[in-house]
Amino acid sequence: MRLGLLTGGGDCPGLNAVIRAITRKAESRFDDEVIGFYDSWDGVVEQRFTELTKTSVRGLLPRGGTILGTRRGSPLDSPHGVERVQAAMSELRIDALVVIGGNGSLTVASILHQKYGIPVVGIPKTIDNDVVGTDATFGFQTAVQIATDAIDRLHTTAESHDRVMVVEVMGRDAGWIALHAGIAGGATAIVIPEVRFDIDELAGVVSRRHAGGRYASVVVVAEGALPVADTLVVPQRKCDQYGHELLGDIAHLVAPELSSRTGYESRVVQLGHIQRGGTPSAYDRVLATRFGLAAVDAVHDGAFGEMVVLRCGKIERESMTVAQGKTRLVDLDLFNDVAATFFG
Ligand code: F6P
Repeated sequence: MRLGLLTGGGDCPGLNAVIRAITRKAESRFDDEVIGFYDSWDGVVEQRFTELTKTSVRGLLPRGGTILGTRRGSPLDSPHGVERVQAAMSELRIDALVVIGGNGSLTVASILHQKYGIPVVGIPKTIDNDVVGTDATFGFQTAVQIATDAIDRLHTTAESHDRVMVVEVMGRDAGWIALHAGIAGGATAIVIPEVRFDIDELAGVVSRRHAGGRYASVVVVAEGALPVADTLVVPQRKCDQYGHELLGDIAHLVAPELSSRTGYESRVVQLGHIQRGGTPSAYDRVLATRFGLAAVDAVHDGAFGEMVVLRCGKIERESMTVAQGKTRLVDLDLFNDVAATFFG
């Protein structure tokens, strides 16, 4: 067979590991040919690609980012996009397309399969960990470790100055990184998109903590968090060229409000794209490799329209329609239990 691969959406640690696993298995176990499209769907539509071989993927396992490049955007957004995908599939003799993406790319892949019959297999990835149908996406665990390391470091400087550090992490619609890094880093409070925050309550948590003789508050805020209606005014946000809202202002809104309510100085730390960069953790290398190996089997079984997923420790398959247009939110029981126990 001849397989095409693409990486879509925001990059994450583990993408190169999955490219390597697919290429190695497809070539050595099935004698397949593999091509990698550059820059996500742009590369398919414009027929820009590279041949992937066991030799060309050598050394990729620990490398961050994606050697193929990635973009947001989709062939569904342009008038002849789908026709051009179909043309690429037949002109380049592609038997199956493996789409490695988050919610956006998997939704596009699912529509291309359902509506246009394009043979696609999906692999869920994203540091946000918010794809419905899988217990985890690769990239998440690395991002949580990076955020936890940062929180650990912030504790000591916050302590020295008796300050409140407001740490903003990624998480547009779901607070997975905030919740997990906040728990691991012993945060004073965690603010997630799933639960609107009350700034007075948050200030109360910080004040009580300091009054009890504890210094150094580290408040972890997911970038997509929002205040309770009619409490704070969130400035109008701009969008990027794909209509994606540009976030990154919430910590700057929260920090001065906490200072004015508590009297403690605050500082903002935005971890931003550091969470997505660099080498994947061992866990993410293994998960990416398992997904890649299983995706090649899915292609050979003709399981088009499906994605490989992690469920109770095992790799299984699930229809991409379950992820289409949805977001997997955090476990609110865990969030509430943590809040009730640790956020005095
Ligand atoms: O990959 C998803 C994500 O990490 C979101 O949490 C974040 O809002 C977004 O990417 C930012 O991506 P970019 O700045 O690359 O568009």
